[in-house]
Amino acid sequence: MTEQERKTLTKLVTEPPKFNEPMRHHTTLRVGGPADALVTVHTINELQKVVQFALERGLPILVLGEGSNLIAKDGGIRGIVLRLSGELTRINFDTQEIEVGGGTYLPHLLVKAAQRGLSGLECCTGVPGTVGGALISNAGTAEEFIGDKVMRVTVLTHEGVLRTVEKDELQFGYRSSNLKELGLVIVSAVFNLSHDEPKAIMERIHRRWRYRWETQPVNMPCAGCIFKNPPGDRAGRLLDAAGMKGVRIGDAQVSTVHANFIVNLGNAKAKDVLALAELMRETVKAKFGITLEYEVQIVGEDE
Ligand code: EPU
Repeated sequence: MTEQERKTLTKLVTEPPKFNEPMRHHTTLRVGGPADALVTVHTINELQKVVQFALERGLPILVLGEGSNLIAKDGGIRGIVLRLSGELTRINFDTQEIEVGGGTYLPHLLVKAAQRGLSGLECCTGVPGTVGGALISNAGTAEEFIGDKVMRVTVLTHEGVLRTVEKDELQFGYRSSNLKELGLVIVSAVFNLSHDEPKAIMERIHRRWRYRWETQPVNMPCAGCIFKNPPGDRAGRLLDAAGMKGVRIGDAQVSTVHANFIVNLGNAKAKDVLALAELMRETVKAKFGITLEYEVQIVGEDE
């Protein structure tokens, strides 16, 4: 990015962009080299201006949620990394339908909905991501997904135009959706929830939280499950049976709690994490003949 581009970009937004910002400060696994520019937008207007600027100059854009399902490589990310804030994190309650900004922190939404007696998103308990990120990868458990509750999604298209996409055009699969084809940025989403007692909803959330605490390394830097579950089986079970728990490359270690998680013991590099993930895949392939597919998103360049 040129000096002139930095100056122009800075004038488009109220919050000063961060240049050469280490991605390890913005991913839950705590790895990743510098992003050319980390730009936080607070309004749809700012968002449109930044996207227009990037489109005109051919600068790539990566929308960052909470960085909780992301492995950013050590060489960092060229172009603009966008974060959604302010207006883009708002929740509007209207009886059963709620409209939520794409940058909204999912655990916050779950609690707010529960307080209002709105149920339906409990499958996302413990998913430390944004609404937009969760929709793109259809987050949830192995059986229940956020996509099941969506009515419509407003996106900023790859051409920089706002567009509302209705449910019948949205496709959700296991940890997948067609949202990346439909848009560059998830601006907001409308969910259809059902009514229940706040206490009953909170109890369900607490039960799911306890399960996660007991079965996942939630207090360690990690990026959630590394691989999708293959049809009819569980990646965690296969990796565990293949003897991968505790295996380590540098400071990246297969969690001793759940074998489909990699934890950062302190100073892991993305290259350690990726080498370990490949070793996990090769081991399962050699032992069970099953090829695991990545669930995490891998972005950026090698060092
Ligand atoms: N298992 C093992 N060893 C392990 C891990 C799991 O034997 O090291 C066995 C368990 O004993 C259990 C089975 O595998 O019988 C399934 O384990 P778990 O209930 O933990 O579910 P999972 O399929 O491994 C899925 C989602 C998680 C979600 C949990 C809880 C995927 C890839 N993972 O895990 O989602 O939190 O259910 O609902 O679908 C994520 O997407 O990042 C994620 C963490």
